[in-house]
Amino acid sequence: MKIMHVDASAKRERSNSRALSQHFLERLREEGLDIEVDYLDVTVDTPPHVNEAFAIATYTPSDERTPAMKATLAASDALCKRLLDADALVFAMPMYNWSMPSVFKAFIDSITRTGLTYVHTADGHIEGQLARQKVLFITSRGADLRAGPYSSMDALTPALKAAFGFLGVANPTFVDAQPLQFSDQASRIAALERARTELAAVAANWANPAKPEPASALEQDNDVMALSQE
Ligand SMILES: Cc1cc2nc3c(=O)[nH]c(=O)nc-3n(C[C@H](O)[C@H](O)[C@H](O)COP(=O)(O)O)c2cc1C
Repeated sequence: MKIMHVDASAKRERSNSRALSQHFLERLREEGLDIEVDYLDVTVDTPPHVNEAFAIATYTPSDERTPAMKATLAASDALCKRLLDADALVFAMPMYNWSMPSVFKAFIDSITRTGLTYVHTADGHIEGQLARQKVLFITSRGADLRAGPYSSMDALTPALKAAFGFLGVANPTFVDAQPLQFSDQASRIAALERARTELAAVAANWANPAKPEPASALEQDNDVMALSQE
């Protein structure tokens, strides 16, 4: 299975989302899945923000693009190809100010491309081209948005669903580690354990899609995972 793995946390060794995405890939290997990973750290290789040249070139029909327009779109073309070539996509990111890190938004702006990741069909519909891929979002949050005062503040999940739904991703899987930074240590440890348990179930399902995922049958994974020193 060819996996495109994208990390987006500004933190490195202390990042929980990075640790969880790494953990997920290890679980896939433990499940016996033969995986080939195409890794992208969008905090290092950050796609450029949309500028005027990109905004014009991207909506110019491909057979009318000038050499300069083609050059403007070359990096984005290459990124789209990496996504389209993958069998599965693993995106890990923290919540920043209720939404996604700006580097991941720049990534979305680079990979949402007419004629590549979505096409206009003859009957006037838009057809996303990432319908074949399994998609997993791993998010980390300082607060607990499942219930309580912040439960209406989640602008991250709907934004990811909308952006990737447009590209054909109908049923992405979300594993949200919360609460972390803005909670006590016991709650953080519990949140990370919960996330690892959910990731183990997703890994088992990816390795053996025919097998159902009974939550009660999940084996708790007690591997030591670095708890961020937030
Ligand atoms: C700039 C910044 C903004 C943040 N905004 C939020 C937020 O809006 N809601 C929230 O629950 N946590 C917020 N957090 C906390 C992070 O989501 C949390 O610490 C997360 O675990 C970080 O993931 P990481 O360890 O992979 O970097 C913010 C953290 C930073 C650094």
